[in-house]
Amino acid sequence: MKARLPPWACALALLAIAMSPAVRAEDAGIITLSGKPVIARPTRPPVRFPHEAHWGFEGLDCLSCHHEFKDGVNVLDMSVLAAGGPAIQCASCHRSAGKLQSSFHRLCIGCHETAAKKAKPTGPRSCGDCHPWK
Ligand code: HEC
Ligand code: HEC
Ligand code: HEC
Ligand code: HEC
Repeated sequence: MKARLPPWACALALLAIAMSPAVRAEDAGIITLSGKPVIARPTRPPVRFPHEAHWGFEGLDCLSCHHEFKDGVNVLDMSVLAAGGPAIQCASCHRSAGKLQSSFHRLCIGCHETAAKKAKPTGPRSCGDCHPWK
Protein backbone atom coordinates (compact mmCIF):
# COMPACT_ATOMS: atom_id res chain seq x y z
CA MET A 1 0.00 0.00 0.00
CA LYS A 2 1.24 3.50 -0.81
CA ALA A 3 1.72 5.86 2.11
CA ARG A 4 1.10 8.98 0.02
CA LEU A 5 -2.35 10.47 -0.45
CA PRO A 6 -3.64 10.85 -3.99
CA PRO A 7 -3.30 14.45 -5.33
CA TRP A 8 -7.07 15.06 -5.24
CA ALA A 9 -7.11 14.33 -1.51
CA CYS A 10 -4.39 16.92 -0.93
CA ALA A 11 -6.27 19.46 -3.04
CA LEU A 12 -9.43 18.76 -1.06
CA ALA A 13 -7.59 19.14 2.24
CA LEU A 14 -6.09 22.47 1.13
CA LEU A 15 -9.49 23.67 -0.01
CA ALA A 16 -10.99 22.71 3.34
CA ILE A 17 -8.26 24.64 5.16
CA ALA A 18 -8.66 27.68 2.91
CA MET A 19 -12.41 27.73 3.50
CA SER A 20 -12.46 27.06 7.22
CA PRO A 21 -13.64 30.14 9.15
CA ALA A 22 -10.60 30.18 11.41
CA VAL A 23 -8.18 30.58 8.54
CA ARG A 24 -9.88 32.92 6.07
CA ALA A 25 -7.86 36.14 6.31
CA GLU A 26 -10.90 38.40 5.98
CA ASP A 27 -12.42 36.75 9.06
CA ALA A 28 -9.46 37.32 11.36
CA GLY A 29 -10.54 39.31 14.41
CA ILE A 30 -14.20 39.24 13.40
CA ILE A 31 -16.84 37.93 15.82
CA THR A 32 -20.21 36.82 14.49
CA LEU A 33 -22.86 37.88 16.99
CA SER A 34 -26.20 36.05 16.86
CA GLY A 35 -27.49 36.38 20.41
CA LYS A 36 -27.85 32.60 20.59
CA PRO A 37 -28.73 30.71 22.72
CA VAL A 38 -30.29 33.48 24.86
CA ILE A 39 -32.11 34.88 21.82
CA ALA A 40 -33.46 31.49 20.84
CA ARG A 41 -35.19 32.42 17.58
CA PRO A 42 -33.44 35.40 15.99
CA THR A 43 -35.53 37.32 13.45
CA ARG A 44 -32.59 39.09 11.80
CA PRO A 45 -29.38 37.83 10.22
CA PRO A 46 -26.36 37.67 12.57
CA VAL A 47 -23.99 40.64 12.88
CA ARG A 48 -20.39 40.58 11.67
CA PHE A 49 -18.53 42.56 14.30
CA PRO A 50 -14.95 43.59 13.42
CA HIS A 51 -13.75 43.20 17.00
CA GLU A 52 -10.00 43.67 16.61
CA ALA A 53 -10.43 46.59 14.17
CA HIS A 54 -12.21 48.44 16.99
CA TRP A 55 -9.11 48.10 19.18
CA GLY A 56 -7.32 50.50 16.85
CA PHE A 57 -10.11 53.08 16.46
CA GLU A 58 -9.29 56.47 17.95
CA GLY A 59 -10.15 56.87 21.62
CA LEU A 60 -11.30 53.27 22.15
CA ASP A 61 -9.88 50.75 24.57
CA CYS A 62 -11.03 47.43 25.96
CA LEU A 63 -13.01 49.12 28.73
CA SER A 64 -15.01 51.16 26.21
CA CYS A 65 -17.08 48.00 25.76
CA HIS A 66 -16.16 45.46 28.43
CA HIS A 67 -17.26 46.26 31.96
CA GLU A 68 -18.08 45.21 35.46
CA PHE A 69 -19.67 48.01 37.44
CA LYS A 70 -19.23 48.72 41.12
CA ASP A 71 -20.99 51.89 42.37
CA GLY A 72 -21.19 53.11 38.79
CA VAL A 73 -17.45 52.66 38.20
CA ASN A 74 -16.06 50.21 35.66
CA VAL A 75 -13.82 47.99 37.78
CA LEU A 76 -13.28 45.20 35.25
CA ASP A 77 -10.11 43.25 35.94
CA MET A 78 -8.14 43.06 32.69
CA SER A 79 -6.92 39.56 33.50
CA VAL A 80 -10.51 38.36 33.03
CA LEU A 81 -10.37 39.67 29.46
CA ALA A 82 -6.96 38.19 28.84
CA ALA A 83 -8.16 34.78 29.97
CA GLY A 84 -11.21 34.78 27.68
CA GLY A 85 -14.05 32.52 28.77
CA PRO A 86 -17.76 32.76 29.46
CA ALA A 87 -17.64 35.68 31.95
CA ILE A 88 -16.89 37.99 29.02
CA GLN A 89 -20.09 37.11 27.18
CA CYS A 90 -22.59 39.96 27.36
CA ALA A 91 -25.29 37.35 28.00
CA SER A 92 -23.65 36.20 31.22
CA CYS A 93 -24.98 39.41 32.85
CA HIS A 94 -27.59 40.79 30.40
CA ARG A 95 -29.54 37.59 30.66
CA SER A 96 -32.94 37.89 28.99
CA ALA A 97 -33.41 38.05 25.21
CA GLY A 98 -34.93 41.54 25.39
CA LYS A 99 -32.19 42.92 27.65
CA LEU A 100 -29.44 41.33 25.60
CA GLN A 101 -30.78 42.86 22.38
CA SER A 102 -31.06 46.32 23.94
CA SER A 103 -27.60 46.06 25.56
CA PHE A 104 -26.03 45.32 22.20
CA HIS A 105 -28.00 48.07 20.47
CA ARG A 106 -27.19 50.66 23.14
CA LEU A 107 -23.50 49.82 23.10
CA CYS A 108 -22.99 49.55 19.33
CA ILE A 109 -25.48 52.09 17.96
CA GLY A 110 -24.97 54.42 20.95
CA CYS A 111 -21.28 54.83 20.28
CA HIS A 112 -21.74 55.12 16.51
CA GLU A 113 -24.39 57.86 17.08
CA THR A 114 -22.14 59.77 19.47
CA ALA A 115 -19.27 59.72 16.99
CA ALA A 116 -21.60 60.79 14.15
CA LYS A 117 -22.85 63.76 16.20
CA LYS A 118 -19.25 64.88 16.66
CA ALA A 119 -18.69 64.46 12.90
CA LYS A 120 -16.04 61.79 13.64
CA PRO A 121 -15.52 58.57 11.63
CA THR A 122 -18.27 56.19 12.70
CA GLY A 123 -19.86 52.78 12.17
CA PRO A 124 -23.26 51.57 10.91
CA ARG A 125 -26.47 52.92 12.43
CA SER A 126 -29.17 51.43 10.22
CA CYS A 127 -30.62 47.95 10.61
CA GLY A 128 -29.57 46.51 7.27
CA ASP A 129 -25.97 47.63 7.63
CA CYS A 130 -25.53 45.43 10.71
CA HIS A 131 -28.10 42.73 9.88
CA PRO A 132 -27.64 42.36 6.12
CA TRP A 133 -30.20 40.15 4.37
CA LYS A 134 -27.90 39.91 1.31
C1 HEC B 1 -16.14 48.12 20.45
C2 HEC B 1 -16.38 47.22 21.56
C3 HEC B 1 -15.26 46.32 22.02
C4 HEC B 1 -13.95 46.66 22.26
C5 HEC B 1 -13.27 48.01 22.13
C6 HEC B 1 -13.30 45.44 22.72
N1 HEC B 1 -14.20 44.40 22.73
FE1 HEC B 1 -13.81 42.48 23.23
N2 HEC B 1 -15.71 41.94 22.69
C7 HEC B 1 -16.70 42.83 22.34
C8 HEC B 1 -17.93 42.08 22.09
C9 HEC B 1 -19.27 42.67 21.69
C10 HEC B 1 -17.60 40.73 22.28
C11 HEC B 1 -18.55 39.53 22.12
C12 HEC B 1 -19.21 39.26 23.45
C13 HEC B 1 -20.26 38.19 23.37
O1 HEC B 1 -20.14 37.29 22.51
O2 HEC B 1 -21.20 38.21 24.18
C14 HEC B 1 -16.20 40.67 22.68
C15 HEC B 1 -15.51 39.50 22.99
C16 HEC B 1 -14.25 39.47 23.55
C17 HEC B 1 -13.58 38.26 23.98
C18 HEC B 1 -14.14 36.85 23.92
C19 HEC B 1 -14.20 36.36 22.50
C20 HEC B 1 -12.85 36.19 21.91
O3 HEC B 1 -12.60 36.76 20.83
O4 HEC B 1 -12.02 35.52 22.51
C21 HEC B 1 -12.35 38.63 24.46
C22 HEC B 1 -11.27 37.72 25.04
C23 HEC B 1 -12.24 40.08 24.31
N3 HEC B 1 -13.42 40.55 23.75
C24 HEC B 1 -11.15 40.82 24.67
C25 HEC B 1 -10.99 42.17 24.37
C26 HEC B 1 -9.77 42.93 24.64
C27 HEC B 1 -8.52 42.36 25.28
C28 HEC B 1 -10.01 44.20 24.20
C29 HEC B 1 -9.03 45.38 24.18
C30 HEC B 1 -7.79 45.15 23.48
C31 HEC B 1 -11.36 44.25 23.66
N4 HEC B 1 -11.92 43.01 23.79
C32 HEC B 1 -11.97 45.36 23.12
C33 HEC B 1 -16.59 44.19 22.22
C34 HEC B 1 -15.41 44.91 22.33
C1 HEC C 1 -20.03 41.21 34.58
C2 HEC C 1 -21.38 41.49 34.12
C3 HEC C 1 -21.53 42.23 32.81
C4 HEC C 1 -21.06 41.87 31.58
C5 HEC C 1 -20.21 40.66 31.21
C6 HEC C 1 -21.54 42.87 30.65
N1 HEC C 1 -22.30 43.80 31.30
FE1 HEC C 1 -23.20 45.42 30.48
N2 HEC C 1 -23.72 46.08 32.33
C7 HEC C 1 -23.56 45.37 33.50
C8 HEC C 1 -24.09 46.15 34.63
C9 HEC C 1 -24.13 45.72 36.08
C10 HEC C 1 -24.55 47.37 34.07
C11 HEC C 1 -25.14 48.55 34.81
C12 HEC C 1 -26.53 48.25 35.26
C13 HEC C 1 -27.47 48.12 34.13
O1 HEC C 1 -27.82 49.15 33.53
O2 HEC C 1 -27.87 46.98 33.79
C14 HEC C 1 -24.31 47.29 32.62
C15 HEC C 1 -24.63 48.28 31.72
C16 HEC C 1 -24.56 48.16 30.35
C17 HEC C 1 -24.99 49.17 29.41
C18 HEC C 1 -25.52 50.55 29.79
C19 HEC C 1 -26.89 50.43 30.35
C20 HEC C 1 -27.89 50.25 29.27
O3 HEC C 1 -28.52 49.15 29.21
O4 HEC C 1 -28.04 51.15 28.46
C21 HEC C 1 -24.81 48.65 28.16
C22 HEC C 1 -25.14 49.33 26.85
C23 HEC C 1 -24.23 47.32 28.32
N3 HEC C 1 -24.08 47.06 29.66
C24 HEC C 1 -23.88 46.48 27.28
C25 HEC C 1 -23.08 45.33 27.44
C26 HEC C 1 -22.51 44.56 26.35
C27 HEC C 1 -22.78 44.80 24.88
C28 HEC C 1 -21.74 43.57 26.90
C29 HEC C 1 -20.82 42.59 26.22
C30 HEC C 1 -19.69 43.18 25.49
C31 HEC C 1 -21.86 43.70 28.35
N4 HEC C 1 -22.68 44.77 28.62
C32 HEC C 1 -21.28 42.87 29.28
C33 HEC C 1 -22.98 44.13 33.63
C34 HEC C 1 -22.32 43.45 32.62
C1 HEC D 1 -17.03 52.94 21.89
C2 HEC D 1 -17.41 53.16 20.50
C3 HEC D 1 -17.86 52.00 19.63
C4 HEC D 1 -18.57 50.88 20.00
C5 HEC D 1 -19.04 50.51 21.38
C6 HEC D 1 -18.80 50.12 18.79
N1 HEC D 1 -18.25 50.75 17.72
FE1 HEC D 1 -18.34 50.10 15.79
N2 HEC D 1 -17.19 51.68 15.22
C7 HEC D 1 -16.78 52.71 16.05
C8 HEC D 1 -16.05 53.70 15.27
C9 HEC D 1 -15.43 55.00 15.82
C10 HEC D 1 -16.03 53.21 13.94
C11 HEC D 1 -15.39 53.88 12.70
C12 HEC D 1 -13.90 53.99 12.86
C13 HEC D 1 -13.21 54.45 11.62
O1 HEC D 1 -13.72 54.22 10.52
O2 HEC D 1 -12.14 55.03 11.78
C14 HEC D 1 -16.76 51.95 13.95
C15 HEC D 1 -16.95 51.15 12.82
C16 HEC D 1 -17.71 49.99 12.79
C17 HEC D 1 -17.94 49.19 11.61
C18 HEC D 1 -17.36 49.46 10.23
C19 HEC D 1 -15.95 48.92 10.23
C20 HEC D 1 -15.24 49.13 8.92
O3 HEC D 1 -14.16 48.52 8.79
O4 HEC D 1 -15.72 49.87 8.08
C21 HEC D 1 -18.76 48.16 11.97
C22 HEC D 1 -19.28 47.05 11.09
C23 HEC D 1 -19.03 48.32 13.39
N3 HEC D 1 -18.39 49.44 13.85
C24 HEC D 1 -19.84 47.46 14.12
C25 HEC D 1 -20.00 47.55 15.51
C26 HEC D 1 -20.80 46.63 16.30
C27 HEC D 1 -21.60 45.46 15.75
C28 HEC D 1 -20.67 47.04 17.59
C29 HEC D 1 -21.27 46.41 18.83
C30 HEC D 1 -20.97 45.01 19.09
C31 HEC D 1 -19.83 48.22 17.61
N4 HEC D 1 -19.46 48.50 16.34
C32 HEC D 1 -19.49 48.92 18.76
C33 HEC D 1 -17.00 52.84 17.39
C34 HEC D 1 -17.67 51.91 18.18
C1 HEC E 1 -24.43 48.69 14.98
C2 HEC E 1 -25.04 47.44 14.59
C3 HEC E 1 -26.53 47.26 14.74
C4 HEC E 1 -27.54 48.03 14.21
C5 HEC E 1 -27.41 49.33 13.42
C6 HEC E 1 -28.78 47.35 14.51
N1 HEC E 1 -28.51 46.21 15.22
FE1 HEC E 1 -29.88 44.83 15.83
N2 HEC E 1 -28.44 43.81 16.82
C7 HEC E 1 -27.09 44.10 16.77
C8 HEC E 1 -26.37 43.13 17.57
C9 HEC E 1 -24.87 43.10 17.78
C10 HEC E 1 -27.33 42.26 18.09
C11 HEC E 1 -27.07 41.03 19.01
C12 HEC E 1 -26.70 39.86 18.13
C13 HEC E 1 -27.91 39.34 17.41
O1 HEC E 1 -28.85 38.90 18.11
O2 HEC E 1 -27.94 39.37 16.16
C14 HEC E 1 -28.63 42.69 17.59
C15 HEC E 1 -29.84 42.07 17.85
C16 HEC E 1 -31.03 42.40 17.25
C17 HEC E 1 -32.28 41.66 17.42
C18 HEC E 1 -32.49 40.43 18.29
C19 HEC E 1 -32.03 39.20 17.54
C20 HEC E 1 -32.92 38.84 16.37
O3 HEC E 1 -32.36 38.67 15.27
O4 HEC E 1 -34.16 38.71 16.53
C21 HEC E 1 -33.24 42.28 16.65
C22 HEC E 1 -34.70 41.89 16.47
C23 HEC E 1 -32.59 43.42 16.03
N3 HEC E 1 -31.25 43.46 16.42
C24 HEC E 1 -33.21 44.30 15.18
C25 HEC E 1 -32.65 45.48 14.71
C26 HEC E 1 -33.38 46.53 14.00
C27 HEC E 1 -34.88 46.46 13.64
C28 HEC E 1 -32.50 47.51 13.74
C29 HEC E 1 -32.74 48.86 13.09
C30 HEC E 1 -33.74 49.70 13.76
C31 HEC E 1 -31.19 47.07 14.25
N4 HEC E 1 -31.33 45.85 14.83
C32 HEC E 1 -30.02 47.81 14.14
C33 HEC E 1 -26.49 45.12 16.07
C34 HEC E 1 -27.16 46.11 15.38
